[in-house]
Amino acid sequence: MEQKLKNKVCIVTGATSGMGKAIATHFHDHGAKLILSGRNEERGKQLAKQLTNSIFIPGDVSDIHYNESLVKSAIENFGQLNIVSLNAGVLGLGNVIDLTKEAWHQTLDTNLSAIFYMSKYAIPELQKNGGNFLINASIAAYKSFPNHPAYCASKAASLGLMKQLAVEYAPKVRVNAICPGPVDTPLIWDSAKAFANPEAAVDNAKNATLLNRLGTPEDIAKLALFLASEDASWITGTAMTIDGGILNA
Ligand SMILES: NC(=O)c1ccc[n+]([C@@H]2O[C@H](COP(=O)([O-])OP(=O)(O)OC[C@H]3O[C@@H](n4cnc5c(N)ncnc54)[C@H](OP(=O)(O)O)[C@@H]3O)[C@@H](O)[C@H]2O)c1
Repeated sequence: MEQKLKNKVCIVTGATSGMGKAIATHFHDHGAKLILSGRNEERGKQLAKQLTNSIFIPGDVSDIHYNESLVKSAIENFGQLNIVSLNAGVLGLGNVIDLTKEAWHQTLDTNLSAIFYMSKYAIPELQKNGGNFLINASIAAYKSFPNHPAYCASKAASLGLMKQLAVEYAPKVRVNAICPGPVDTPLIWDSAKAFANPEAAVDNAKNATLLNRLGTPEDIAKLALFLASEDASWITGTAMTIDGGILNA
């Protein structure tokens, strides 16, 4: 098998679950060396055991210093940084009347400010050898969902930040976003709690896709690999929707 990321050093946030875990595994299978991020130490350590050339650094992406430490670890352990894949995300469920100020800020800090924090420390390293910055946004950047105001706002803003970074750091650094539709991870089941009947909500999401199924984390990992690899060397400043056709249904 051709290894599309041979010896590339990658930071993957949200690596302890769902899409981030699939992306880390896929990148590993293509020869990447990995700094794995997440808060759940058990799941993070377990993944690091499975993936050669990977190090798990536990922490909270809403802490600016933690982001700095992820970049430092990449340099100290592997000598360079080539790719950053940002997947950590939370929902912050609740309509604007009920949502607390704390939950609003926690959602914005995790889904949006963490991108700014990481770019602050990662971009200078990515500029050295040419690099790649990949943001996992959502179709929630384009579409409202009941009781997801902080989530939708954070995801829409992440695309604004993505474009800004793409413009400022071209041509050395490519910056892109992925906008998944409903993907079968723990997050979609948490998201469904915002609906009266969660099981029916997930089923409705599946049936609303043109392709009649939820996405899998591996579907997203394949797109992340494409965008992070040389195959996408003329793609920057783009948000790629991967949603089984749900936005057009
Ligand atoms: N599933 C979907 O349908 C869907 C659709 C569109 C977009 N997305 C986006 O895709 C990304 C991945 O989500 P997923 O569906 O794979 O969900 P998931 O399985 O729930 O994974 C979320 C990940 O984010 C990490 N995380 C959350 N808050 C964190 C924090 N403060 N600091 C560090 N890590 C944190 C979690 O790690 P710990 O638990 O270890 O902290 C976990 O690894 C998210 O940005 C999400 O918004 C999901």
